[in-house]
Amino acid sequence: MGMRVLVLGGGGREHALVRSLAASPLVGAVIAAPGNGGTAGEPKTANMPLAIEDPAAVVACACENAIDLVVVGPEAPLVAGVADGVRAAGIPCFGPGAAGACIEGSKAFAKGLMERHTIPTGRSRSFSAGEREAAHELLGQWGAPVVVKADGLAAGKGVTVAFDLDIARAAVDECLDGRFGEAGSTVLIEEYLDGPECSLLALVDGRTVLPLAPAQDYKRVGDGDIGPNTGGMGVYSPVPLVGDAEYAAMLAVMQATADALADEDIAYRGVLYGGFILTAEGPKVLEFNARFGDPETQVVLPRLKSDLAEALLACAEGRLAEVELEWVPEVAVSVVIASEGYPGPYETGKPISGIEAAERLPGVSVYHAGTRLAPAAAAADSAVLTAGGRVLNMTAVASGFEAAIAVAYAGVERISFEGAFFRRDIARRALGQP
Ligand code: GLY
Repeated sequence: MGMRVLVLGGGGREHALVRSLAASPLVGAVIAAPGNGGTAGEPKTANMPLAIEDPAAVVACACENAIDLVVVGPEAPLVAGVADGVRAAGIPCFGPGAAGACIEGSKAFAKGLMERHTIPTGRSRSFSAGEREAAHELLGQWGAPVVVKADGLAAGKGVTVAFDLDIARAAVDECLDGRFGEAGSTVLIEEYLDGPECSLLALVDGRTVLPLAPAQDYKRVGDGDIGPNTGGMGVYSPVPLVGDAEYAAMLAVMQATADALADEDIAYRGVLYGGFILTAEGPKVLEFNARFGDPETQVVLPRLKSDLAEALLACAEGRLAEVELEWVPEVAVSVVIASEGYPGPYETGKPISGIEAAERLPGVSVYHAGTRLAPAAAAADSAVLTAGGRVLNMTAVASGFEAAIAVAYAGVERISFEGAFFRRDIARRALGQP
């Protein structure tokens, strides 16, 4: 019969999770809630509408569908306590409870944890609405460049890297004036860390830390890292500039953080995502997330040789120490194809063509992010429509970066929808180019 898995979320990360889980011989069925146009077409998989931030609704769905494992994709359900609810109902859940998810849900909590446990990160101070003047005073003392962050979840939009003090002051005011709602009622002022970014994700079950392959994400919307921040416009794995010493330092930070959480009586079972800056003094933590990265997952999972379902179930059941992960030697590159206007407002409902043609290229996987299936009557034109800002992830796995970049972009060229755009420089850094 096989395991029945419920995957919460509907982005590119969840499509990658669903594809890898459905490929496991241990898995009999996958429900993607709500899923997207890509998950709908995966073997063994069905999409289902669900209020994924409502613990009671998720538990009811899991019980009705005899689910053996719930895998939580995005951060919001974790912060809302969905994993606590599922575990309390006796169902294994991959994802930390609300207390652990604070490592992403409250930047002030994450900074406090790092300070208490001497985990390397930039210095920072947090201010509430009544402390606006003190926040401005600190900006005056520290000067630019400086980073201003809304404390809570702001869908990747609550961070300003200010190279100019006026921009930093405006960012503080924006947060405290309510632009990000409750998420910005506390604002953090952080030291600017200089250096390349690298993400190291790890499966964590208590004090057991099982690292996944490092990846490097491109957060800015435009070529050459120009323009506003996005959820991520492309990514590659592994990261050649991470040498043995940097990798060991990042891994030590991940272990120290798992230990810190355990020492503070937080039972953490899920992914711990370490966002690092490789500074001249060694890797320092920029941020932690409590979930798989998006689009990092779309290059990490295609390189994973081991059975994902087995690893996630073992983590959810507190048996992660039994698991070893194997990786293919090939590299992976993923280019995000987005809707015109993203990360600002954009239109949806545009017919997409070329997905099957792209998937015929050797080593290519197309992961859907913001897509949905067209109603049957319109399906003659195109079965898949745009439904989000980031629409598709074109992932290519090849023996080296030059080949992977060439194949990924050959795939991108086969895709067409009105307003499609993408960065043209993804993974060039892996070749030592800007
Ligand atoms: N790609 C960045 C993130 O997942 O937060």
